[in-house]
Amino acid sequence: MSVILGIETSCDETAAAVVEDGRKVLSSCVFSQIDVHQAFGGVVPEVAARCHLESMNAVVDEALERAGVGRRQLTAIACANGPGLVGTLLVGLSCAKALSWSWSLPLITVDHLQSHVCANYIDSDLEPPFVCLLVSGGHTQLMHFSDYSASTLLGETLDDAAGEAFDKVARLLELGYPGGPAVDRAARGGDPQAYRFPEGVVDGYDFSFSGLKTAVLRTVEKLEEPLAGRACDLAASFQDAVNRVLFKKTLAAARETGVKQVVLAGGVAANSNLRERFAELTEIDVFMPSLKYCTDNAAMVASAAHFMGNAADLSATVYSRGKKSGSRR
Ligand code: KG4
Ligand code: ZN
Repeated sequence: MSVILGIETSCDETAAAVVEDGRKVLSSCVFSQIDVHQAFGGVVPEVAARCHLESMNAVVDEALERAGVGRRQLTAIACANGPGLVGTLLVGLSCAKALSWSWSLPLITVDHLQSHVCANYIDSDLEPPFVCLLVSGGHTQLMHFSDYSASTLLGETLDDAAGEAFDKVARLLELGYPGGPAVDRAARGGDPQAYRFPEGVVDGYDFSFSGLKTAVLRTVEKLEEPLAGRACDLAASFQDAVNRVLFKKTLAAARETGVKQVVLAGGVAANSNLRERFAELTEIDVFMPSLKYCTDNAAMVASAAHFMGNAADLSATVYSRGKKSGSRR
């Protein structure tokens, strides 16, 4: 049996969680820095690192307390060590190293992107093989998992990530930060057919969202009425264009690879319209994490440590850029 304390600090959430055998969450604590960064309209890396440092110990204590678990019941300490902001990742990794050393527990590092995929193992009986659509603030990838730690990259974005496009368009539409949830909310009151934005046509399973973002910008520039009156229609039409292509390519990948399971992961997997589209599928089993495990959290880190973690020691380092999730097809 594994009882793993997970730590997550790759961007602007300080998180700690205790998870049993990769699927049963005993506690999951997330301290969000949204209020701090709101004033800047986005995450300021140095400020984020300082905030992690200030709340890390309290968040770990709370996770252990809520789980009712002491250090003697833990079997390992796990930490996401990349990709993400180097300064923030270092806070989490330093904390994990200190705990692992002082409590004589194994240290396990996990890839942040792979941990998003593992959010789907929480409270579910999902087992590979499956096709995964990973859509976060920094990444957009379609992957085929033949086993827990064996994946092939089928396609990825050639420019902006889907979440990044949501955040940029939210700024263009003056909907505020964080952008994804703001667009999601605005879109519910808008007409997705009001504007016909391009899907960003790219061959195969790759994606492109920067042209779509520019199309929204040009439309906003040409508006002859106040933006506030059109923001919901613009948000709904933009969201429709993003979700259409995400849905279409994921389904095509599942059909081509012959898998019967599709998995959504990453912050954009919290998007209500995207979830509704996939929920309507009948020929394929669709897995999506509950909303609290879509965006950054540490339960997914502890789960990933159980299923596909890397044994590490005090020489472990952090990395900012994504490693390719498995080989490219
Ligand atoms: O996975 P995540 O928490 O952090 C990264 O690893 O990047 O993803 C954050 C991204 C942000 O771009 C945010 O705007 C987007 O996920 N997001 C959403 C929604 N909730 C979060 N995008 C669309 N609809 C949402 N409901
Ligand atoms: Zn993330």
